Amino acid sequence: MFHEEENNVFVLENGKVAYALYLNEAGNLENVWFGKALSDYRGILSARNVEGGYECMYYDVAAGKERKYAEGFNAQCSPLEISSHGYADKRGAPVIVRRKNGSFATDFRCVRHRAYAGIPPLAGMPHARGEGEACETAEFLFKEQSSEVYLTYRLTLYADKNIFVKSFSVENRGEEPVSLLRAMSLQQDFVSRDYKLVHFHGRWMQERAYAENDVYDGVQEISSNYGRSSAEENPFVYLKSADATADSGTAIGFNLIYSGNFKFRLFSDKFCGMHVTYGINDEDFAWTLRRGEVFQTPQAVMAYSYEGTDAMSRTFHRFIRENLIGYKNNNAYKPVLFNSWEGCSFDFDTASVCEYIDAACKIGTELFVLDDGWFGARNDDTAGLGDWVVNRGKVDLHKVIAHCREKGLKFGIWFEPEMVNYDSDLFRAHPSYALGYRKDGKPYLWRHQLHLDFSDAEAVQAVYRQMKAFLAEYPVDYIKWDCNRIVMEHDANCAERQGEMYHRLMLGYYSLLGRLTEEYPHILFEGCAGGGGRFDLGTLYYCPQIWASDESDPAERMEIQFNTSLGYPLSCIASHVNDSAVASYATKAALALFGTYGYEMNPNELTEGEREELSAIARLYREYHSEVIEQGELYHLLSPNEGNRMCMQCVSQDKRASLVLLMNRKKELQQFRFLKLKGLDKRRVYKNSYDRQVYSGEYYMEVGLNLFFEVLPEFSSRLIVLTEET
Ligand code: GLA
Repeated sequence: MFHEEENNVFVLENGKVAYALYLNEAGNLENVWFGKALSDYRGILSARNVEGGYECMYYDVAAGKERKYAEGFNAQCSPLEISSHGYADKRGAPVIVRRKNGSFATDFRCVRHRAYAGIPPLAGMPHARGEGEACETAEFLFKEQSSEVYLTYRLTLYADKNIFVKSFSVENRGEEPVSLLRAMSLQQDFVSRDYKLVHFHGRWMQERAYAENDVYDGVQEISSNYGRSSAEENPFVYLKSADATADSGTAIGFNLIYSGNFKFRLFSDKFCGMHVTYGINDEDFAWTLRRGEVFQTPQAVMAYSYEGTDAMSRTFHRFIRENLIGYKNNNAYKPVLFNSWEGCSFDFDTASVCEYIDAACKIGTELFVLDDGWFGARNDDTAGLGDWVVNRGKVDLHKVIAHCREKGLKFGIWFEPEMVNYDSDLFRAHPSYALGYRKDGKPYLWRHQLHLDFSDAEAVQAVYRQMKAFLAEYPVDYIKWDCNRIVMEHDANCAERQGEMYHRLMLGYYSLLGRLTEEYPHILFEGCAGGGGRFDLGTLYYCPQIWASDESDPAERMEIQFNTSLGYPLSCIASHVNDSAVASYATKAALALFGTYGYEMNPNELTEGEREELSAIARLYREYHSEVIEQGELYHLLSPNEGNRMCMQCVSQDKRASLVLLMNRKKELQQFRFLKLKGLDKRRVYKNSYDRQVYSGEYYMEVGLNLFFEVLPEFSSRLIVLTEET
């Protein structure tokens, strides 16, 4: 895949897409092609030629003098892999180093390169996986011109999917410590700016709302400074060419294998096209590197599609399933889950939980999860966080688990490991474990809780010990890992290394989650952060599913689920049916089916008819989830971002079965009668669960699904199963 052409041109390609680099005479690595694979790269160097307009100079260290760049290069606008800082290039460097003398001029020049099979794992951080022939990595070593700081740039391309992974690691080989003022993961330059920028913003209960904007002059920034990837902005961002549709045109998706503060920055002017830098947010960031120390950035991932936005989404889905999620049983069926939270909140005892379990069994539940409230002095949200011991006076967990087993159910439990309440034994014994706590200070409370200082290994260990002791006594099959507070401490315990705090908190999160998932490989971990406040690739590496939002009402949920699935597989999107009144149980369940299916309500209040509706969908889930929703291909047929209805279709890999979900937000007459399906085998014939007729794949894709001009009421749905008729 990697080959070196003449004239210092390197090409990384997989037969479909390619990345061509040119190492110029000054040691700058120029990006000369990023797009469809070409059959021949001989002429590619002429693609780099730009009108200089003035003389571009560089300092030749070996010769000890200034030299003029050869024709074709312009230090202000030529596409590069690493821009400098403090020189002519003003687009924005991905990495800035401040030396002891105070200077932060940073200029990296390439000194060596090599290529190898696979992608190296990152120690202590989530990362892309790929061994042997799965992918190939080109590695370039750079030296900073005025110091002994070295930078390794890795660019990986997968053989069977159009996924590129980029990262930098920075090493200080000098005597004096240096400070990294910025350490991003990627720079990506484009010669054109005829694109639209799509990102997913929101808030609690409204995560991942779709926003599409033209690229304009100046800076566009998508970022989080909440101490986590956040509900406010998601790290999944994409660019699509102005002419792109779901099935045609260029779409380039970006994501970061990280759960903390991030910044996607796009700078554009008429001169340079687009200049993207992406990685850890440099706001409040400063990292000291002493002699011999290395800073590794998270990996940034790009999916490249020249077949529209939906192919980009499916590329991300396959990458996440095959090369990111580490859960060993990920290909095994995931049970129908019942979660206690929305039904009874903190208010339960052994008898009422057992009653819930009995009622939950009647709607196809296979895994019962006891949410918040089972530990410490936790009867509301003012106390108990940090004390992961069962509140035996309130609930007998042995009995609850035995009851689940009797009923043939698995059992799961809720934790919020990174948090502590003032009113807890942990805080009373170790106040210094709380982030921002000083004897004279008053850290902000948020939901009455404080963040533990997970940059402190001792604090992490204190939680680990408790969780281990719990797991030794109680056999659980599932853990919901919550995190209900953002980080606000700008005056934390480690004041002299403030700029490192946000990233160190992430390393602490990964170290605890990494240890537990490794020691309990059979436990299914589900990520959560006050709803969907940490829905990201870093968390997915450990937790194969994430609670998408505390909002299960289809009015909002249909957008949340549709938009999340533009960047993440449906099988990662934990979705529950609740008792919101806006739509029927059939509709709410059909929507939850397009995710990992579960329930969250008081099951004792369900009518016989509602139980039947829910059980019917649970049966569909059991039959089709693995093959069609999880392993299948997803097509976004109608976007709720563009109108009042939404349609998603999943097709199994063998194209023998497909599920189609059509949902209406508003009552209106169908504006179209036929809905064209995708991804089927045109020669096969399929039976339609709706009109019970049999048509060919060709018919469904060319003529379409006949909707008979029916009027769908507000928040109603139509769920259609197509199965091959043999
Ligand atoms: C968060 C989660 C909920 C629930 C509560 C419990 O809000 O998103 O699902 O677990 O915490 O306190």
